[in-house]
Amino acid sequence: MSETQKSIYYPNKAFAKEARIKNMCEYHELQNWAHEDYEGFWDHYAKEKINWIEPYHTVLDESKAPFVKWFDGGRLNVSVQCIDRHLVDKKNKVAIIFEGDNGDQQMITYLSLSQKVNRFANMLRNQFGVKKGDRVVIYMPMIPEAAYAMLACARIGAIHSIVFGGFSAEALRDRIEDAQAELVITADGAYRKGKPYLLKNVVDEALCGSTPVKKVCVIERNHEEISWVSGRDYSYNELVANESSECEAESMESEDPLFLLYTSGSTGKPKGVQHNCAGYILWAQMTMEWVFDVKADDTYWCTADVGWITGHTYIVYGPLAMGATTVMFEGVPTYPDAGRCWKMVEEHKINQFYTAPTAIRVLHKTGEHEPAKYDLSSLKVLGTVGEPIDPPAWKWYYEAVGGSNCAIVDTYWQTETGGHVVSPLPGATPIKPACATFPLPGIMAEVVDEEGNKKEAGEQGLLCITRPWPSQIRNVWGDEERYVKSYFGDVTKNGKPVYFSGDGAIYDEEGYITITGRTDDVINVSGHRMGTAEIEAAIKKSSDVAEVAVVGKPHEIKGEGIFAYVVLKNEENLGELIETMKAINNVIKHEIGNIALCDDIVFVPGLPKTRSGKVMRRILRTIAKGEAVTQDTSTLEDPAVVAQIESCVKNGVC
Ligand code: WT7
Repeated sequence: MSETQKSIYYPNKAFAKEARIKNMCEYHELQNWAHEDYEGFWDHYAKEKINWIEPYHTVLDESKAPFVKWFDGGRLNVSVQCIDRHLVDKKNKVAIIFEGDNGDQQMITYLSLSQKVNRFANMLRNQFGVKKGDRVVIYMPMIPEAAYAMLACARIGAIHSIVFGGFSAEALRDRIEDAQAELVITADGAYRKGKPYLLKNVVDEALCGSTPVKKVCVIERNHEEISWVSGRDYSYNELVANESSECEAESMESEDPLFLLYTSGSTGKPKGVQHNCAGYILWAQMTMEWVFDVKADDTYWCTADVGWITGHTYIVYGPLAMGATTVMFEGVPTYPDAGRCWKMVEEHKINQFYTAPTAIRVLHKTGEHEPAKYDLSSLKVLGTVGEPIDPPAWKWYYEAVGGSNCAIVDTYWQTETGGHVVSPLPGATPIKPACATFPLPGIMAEVVDEEGNKKEAGEQGLLCITRPWPSQIRNVWGDEERYVKSYFGDVTKNGKPVYFSGDGAIYDEEGYITITGRTDDVINVSGHRMGTAEIEAAIKKSSDVAEVAVVGKPHEIKGEGIFAYVVLKNEENLGELIETMKAINNVIKHEIGNIALCDDIVFVPGLPKTRSGKVMRRILRTIAKGEAVTQDTSTLEDPAVVAQIESCVKNGVC
């Protein structure tokens, strides 16, 4: 263990004094309360935090577990929770600060947000005929209209499904089909690194052939020339102008779906993770308050993209539910230079900054001394999410960015958990670098074995959440069986299935939890989840490929890189292999998008398979890392293939 990992960093005393959770005693009190009176705990917060249209009669109904109901009987509207209730005392407070790639800015007050969202919602209802329960796919850049679109759907009870703008037409088409969406909201494009790029053309490609989509709503951002299908494509800017800024919010049941977000699993196609209204918004708000401890006059910035769960919960829903000022940034952290983020922190006086380890590593590498050029004294809390952060990056973040004066919250959670589940509390938790520390109050996260027995310190185990919690996934869209199998199939406690995250974790002597990474065939590239099965399915579409196995390999910047072992149908000469490599990456680009491009492709004569035909990925992971294979290879159908693969990797190609 390195020096940094051993150290403990205590919360800043002045900060702790003002924090919502001020010390570990208060943390334990809350956690004990939840242990002793689980429903009472959640009942208290649901009553305190949510503006109910009608009160609920049951806090938690587990009678059909793992299909659970929170706050049954209650009615609310998430857009009212995020906007209308703030119009009483925060009408002129800035809700969203938008900064474009080129530095253009918009300050959107809660009043203005209300008007924009209501107009958008009226347009969806009146012009596009969207009704409660309809699915709407949003394929958008990072512009405020993405947030308006989400909140407008929430206002009229439509279920949004955002597809990250980096996904290909094929990936977009799959998600549209699975959700059976009839409307896509998109933009002409946006700006990245000073240049315009297009999105609408990807939508056009996705909608070739038969599709459930009837209409496309196009927002103008960069005014580039785009093609137009009359009768299908409509201009937001033209339509929305005629709509009223008043719009009645749909009264939603607690368990009505709020949104779907597709994520990768270890097998098959992406899963539509379904989140429902009440439980999700409650925990989004509570974690904003506890984990970032945002105060009335604070400005908070999360650099994620709205296409991922972090963007949903911690750019839009969480900050707005608590009435905060949230920053939305169209650009990238390294443009025009590696000081961009710090310039923005100085200019907007950012108090909480939340980003991914990949971004921290890039900024550390390319602009180690950049933070010193700016006044970062407004910062109080720094957050990281998405993957384990390595101690050197952590240390730089703590010292160079935080001036050794800010808490770092290493927040562990997933698309499925809706919000943070294991994380330090900035005013309470003595932090250890690169450690997610303790379960948040109310979350029964434990490191256990398959029978639910708690693991001893130092023993690797499975990170489970042993009681339902309000913001948990409710279903895999259209596939109840997959929901049960994916999350409640591996671990039981007292004979009952419990939620298994798919991650390994380990306690230290003081009970701190460190996440050790996925235990399944999911790899984490730059904080984005990729299923190896999905990448393999894409590569197999290449006509030259007979067999393929994909594994993760440690990568300096991305955390994990994608390493593909490919068996070709015909042996080819070296020149052709390079072409084949390019062709394989082109197929991936077409099927999934640039985020899934392989870092390494190695052609091999065969894959290490057991006699029953199962590929031994562990061996492939070891070889990809450049380590010697020490695993038992005697059970392989052809043990000699291991040495052949090793030599292929050494030589680059077979
Ligand atoms: C997976 C979830 C949660 C928003 C972004 C990713 C990994 C997440 C941490 C962390 C170590 C982490 C896990 C998890 N992960 N946070 N703080 N330390 N690993 O959401 O795409 O659903 O991915 O990201 O492996 O299962 P996601």
